[in-house]
Amino acid sequence: MKIKSLKLKNYRNYNELDVNFSDLLNVFVGKNAQGKTNLLESIYYCCIGKSFKSVKDKDIVNWNKEEGFIKLLAEKKYRDIQVEIKFSKDKKKVIEINDIPIKRIGELIGELNIVFFSPNELKLVKESPEERRKFMDIDISQINKRYFYQLSRYEKILSNRNKLLKNSSNIDIVKDTIDIWDRALIQSAKKIAFEREKFVKAITPYTQKAQSYISGGKENVELKYISGCGVNLDENFEKNLDRLLKKNLEKDFKLGYTTLGVHRDDIDIFLNGVEVKSFGSQGQQRTVALSLKLAELENMYNEIGEYPILMLDDVFSELDSDRQEKLLKFVSRTQTFISTTDCKKIDGKIFEISEGKIIKN
Ligand SMILES: Nc1ncnc2c1ncn2[C@@H]1O[C@H](COP(=O)(O)OP(=O)(O)OP(=O)(O)O)[C@@H](O)[C@H]1O
Ligand SMILES: [Mg+2]
Repeated sequence: MKIKSLKLKNYRNYNELDVNFSDLLNVFVGKNAQGKTNLLESIYYCCIGKSFKSVKDKDIVNWNKEEGFIKLLAEKKYRDIQVEIKFSKDKKKVIEINDIPIKRIGELIGELNIVFFSPNELKLVKESPEERRKFMDIDISQINKRYFYQLSRYEKILSNRNKLLKNSSNIDIVKDTIDIWDRALIQSAKKIAFEREKFVKAITPYTQKAQSYISGGKENVELKYISGCGVNLDENFEKNLDRLLKKNLEKDFKLGYTTLGVHRDDIDIFLNGVEVKSFGSQGQQRTVALSLKLAELENMYNEIGEYPILMLDDVFSELDSDRQEKLLKFVSRTQTFISTTDCKKIDGKIFEISEGKIIKN
């Protein structure tokens, strides 16, 4: 997968931009606050339908303008694709694939696959399980559209079950009606849990390979999928979860929400046998987060027969020159976009960015 060109109009600090990319390494270089991350974000938008930052769609419109667009042309193994996102301050954004507006984000997901990494991704290793669920979800959704739709189905079921728990005046009312939600929840949870477990197993060897490479063979990572359903992922999954949901009903009713399910899933990450979240050094945690992302590249290649696009936002400032070099070698097979304030040692197509313009390339 390769991004061939990008056009921007009134997007963040860009008024107008029209640029062609290299099929290999593209480097956005410039001082702070010039628009490097914005540029990466605009590409990400066309792949995932939203930003990697938590922002509202209307916030990406240039402050002095009312509307704008991002238009991207990409080449896939068997066909080209154009994605355009039209956004404005007061209307919902419109996403078009090859000039045809789509109705659901699901239609975009998986069309252009992307792996994004920034220093902020450290939270994948350090912070709450939600980050690791997000990691699994964005990745699996890109290779499996049914999974993406299943997630929103699960959220709806869960929200209905929670409403029942919260709004019922006594537990007998809950008992009368909860079965229908439980059956739906179990079905949906089963599909999600099995996919997540499969995913974690699949990326483990790739993560190990990346970690070992970047750390010079010193560090071994282990990943373990932790099911929030509290039961084994085997042929008795449904029966056991049903039993456990019933057992927990009183507790759930008191709390007013569902305590079991894939919304409680997590991944345990170990480095040389100890939990990296609690015992890893800052540098080790950073490398693990990076290895997880690099593993996504290989896993996607394995699943769809094509490498996704890789984005590295500001990661070079945090790596020593040894690791920088290794990382660049590691990613030489994919089209990569890098943002950095200093590109002395990077050999790629250089785009110098200043005040929302490319001043040299
Ligand atoms: N909607 C918007 N309209 C105009 N400008 C915006 C908008 N949103 C963000 N900006 C500005 O864009 C500028 C560039 O941001 P960006 O994050 O791309 O910088 P950067 O080049 O990545 O810098 P750094 O090296 O510090 O990471 C910021 O100063 C921000 O104020
Ligand atoms: Mg930046």
